[in-house]
Amino acid sequence: MAQSKNQSDSGFGPPLRPQSVAVTVGRPTGYGDPLNVPINLASNFRESSDGPSSGPTEGSRVYSRAGGTETWDAFEQAIGALEGGDAISFSSGMGAVAAIFALLEPGSTVLVPEDCYHGVAETVNDGEARLGWVVQRLPGADTDSWLKAIPNADLVWLESPSNPLMEIADIPTLCNAAKDAGVACAVDNTFATPLLQRPLDHGATFSVHSATKFIGGHSDLLMGVVISRDSEALAAIDRRRMLGGATPGALESFLALRGLRTLPIRLERSQANAEELAIRLSEHRTVSRVRYPGLPDHPGHELASTTLGGPGAMLSFETVGSATSADIRLSRLRLISVATSLGGVESTIERRAKQAGQEHLPETLMRLSVGIEHIEDLWADLEGALDGSI
Ligand SMILES: Cc1ncc(COP(=O)(O)O)c(C=O)c1O
Repeated sequence: MAQSKNQSDSGFGPPLRPQSVAVTVGRPTGYGDPLNVPINLASNFRESSDGPSSGPTEGSRVYSRAGGTETWDAFEQAIGALEGGDAISFSSGMGAVAAIFALLEPGSTVLVPEDCYHGVAETVNDGEARLGWVVQRLPGADTDSWLKAIPNADLVWLESPSNPLMEIADIPTLCNAAKDAGVACAVDNTFATPLLQRPLDHGATFSVHSATKFIGGHSDLLMGVVISRDSEALAAIDRRRMLGGATPGALESFLALRGLRTLPIRLERSQANAEELAIRLSEHRTVSRVRYPGLPDHPGHELASTTLGGPGAMLSFETVGSATSADIRLSRLRLISVATSLGGVESTIERRAKQAGQEHLPETLMRLSVGIEHIEDLWADLEGALDGSI
């Protein structure tokens, strides 16, 4: 785990804004140093040969699964600084998610949103079946039902905006309530990114990401990260990574940090594109519903405008007609790729109910991850796909 230099302690004079933190933190600063931490492929490190008198090796690197490498450290410092905590990186988002759920005892009570990433939904189904977890699946936007349940929970799991229904939870209120009740609280911040939402500022124990998505930003790596300000909780997560072995690769860590450097401008452009596409889609005759927190008719619009730094680059929409007609429309796309992952510079789209375990979703619901292409090219592609006869 790398100690982050947060914004008030950037080492670069006055506190830096997030755009500058993303570019700056995690760089070597000595004369003659490269500007980027190199890809360090080490698993093994030379130990002191002074014999037993040299004392325990704790604190120094011996083996990367336990002590990390400088390449992981650089990424962890930068993402930790953006989220305002210390970070522990993993080989995938699910590696990070699993490390948090692994802290639960058999019989624990867990609160999760009805709509959340399906890997999390499956994780709690599994815990329910095998470990006797008591799982309460609550409507993400129904703050009162969460407030009632929080005092009796062992873990509060939040995801907002949610994947794929784009529901908005009252993250500040719920994180604060969990903190006041002394209940661990994790927020999957993958869709918002630390630029739009910082759960630790509201008292969350953990902010967690699939860094595979917006942080990496180029659909070329799998990584995850857990960030926290709670040193005991961090030590427990660090131990889960060491014992579970879901450690990041050196190349992935390098690429994730390289991706993070441009997150602010990528997100700005993707979000601007998403805002425009959401409006145009909602006016299209073959679109029956658009779910985007930036639209005034979204049930979470007001909450999102006060709790999020922006509506983000993800949206979902439904088309009129059947699942088959939705698939025909998707097959006409040329610029936007039909693909399951999200958060890349390139726009991707998927009819989610097609995925195993997602059959409960509206059958024509398409989840669109908006990239940084030119808005008119994106619209021409979408309009062409939606307009054609079925
Ligand atoms: C919101 C969210 N959380 C977690 C994950 C899991 O991340 P990974 O695929 O990197 O394991 C995903 C993946 O799609 C996701 O969308």
